[in-house]
Amino acid sequence: SKPINILAIETSCDETSVAIVQNGTTILANVVSSQIETHKKFGGVVPEVASRQHVESITLIIEEAFAQAQVRPADLSAIAVTQGPGLVGALLIGIVAAKSLAYLLDLPLIGVHHIAGHIYANQLVHELEYPLVSLVVSGGHTELVYLEAEGSFRIIGQTRDDAVGEAYDKVGRALKLPYPGGPHMDRLALAAEEGVTFPRAWLEPDSYDFSFSGLKSAVLAALNQANMKGLSLEPQAVAKGFQDSVIDVLTGKAMRAVQEYGAKQLLLAGGVAANQGLRQQLAVRCTESGVPLLAPPLSLCTDNAAMIAAAAFLKWQRGQFSALDLTADPQLKL
Ligand code: KG4
Ligand code: ZN
Repeated sequence: SKPINILAIETSCDETSVAIVQNGTTILANVVSSQIETHKKFGGVVPEVASRQHVESITLIIEEAFAQAQVRPADLSAIAVTQGPGLVGALLIGIVAAKSLAYLLDLPLIGVHHIAGHIYANQLVHELEYPLVSLVVSGGHTELVYLEAEGSFRIIGQTRDDAVGEAYDKVGRALKLPYPGGPHMDRLALAAEEGVTFPRAWLEPDSYDFSFSGLKSAVLAALNQANMKGLSLEPQAVAKGFQDSVIDVLTGKAMRAVQEYGAKQLLLAGGVAANQGLRQQLAVRCTESGVPLLAPPLSLCTDNAAMIAAAAFLKWQRGQFSALDLTADPQLKL
């Protein structure tokens, strides 16, 4: 039968990305244009600048995806787009482009939740088995999600303050690392012999929620105190201390959820899923528990449109299409 080719667009934050994915798993193209160089100057994402850059790049990125995939518009089956959550102005650029394509090519439109995309990035490379638990860790999100079956999402825990990636980037900034600090912190931490001891925020014993702002403040306070005494803390030791605290809590809560919910798999998702320390510790704990740990390859952990196409394919199979009046929802619920 005719292959199902879905063109997906992702513009929720600072990457302009267009992908064409066949039958939900074969990536024909996944073009990602990062704005990191632009936002580095400001030490973080400036929403207005992000929107403007999406406008400038989106048409070219769409053309590049068609060229790479060697697919004609007539070969497409649907147009998918990230509906939210994210920066409203940034989301709108992708949505306008997707709606125009769907209208002009007379194709169904599929709005996708950004986090569903991160979770289903795993489907591009793995066979999923339900029920499962997913640990979603990114610059905007830190969530434990229980999926009893495909497409059924239940958030069982989430951050009460900073997202884990956000905490990484803020501490990275204090250590004068380039933006985004996460990958640099990871590298420093892995090279360190010893880490500074920082607190772990376990919250209430039965809670799956997270909190990282206390840890972030503890790191900043330690740096300030050392500074006032004319000392300087070893950046590697600070990075390791911070990362150890983050990983202990993420791993501890994820493994408890896997046990309590009888998960057949633990899925790692989101930009911070690229973290080597986190992947290693989760792998050890999952081996001990006999539960497979699935994680996307690094290139599919951070924001990309192939993951949106993968999530859209599941909706396509269920006939869950969106109307052409689809609009951005920065607070969209999973
Ligand atoms: O999923 P993503 O690309 O965008 C959001 O939806 O937020 O995640 C970006 C975040 C940034 O905070 C970045 O610092 C973090 O992922 N990140 C990492 C690593 N690679 C990316 N954090 C820790 N260790 C890494 N190796
Ligand atoms: Zn993301």
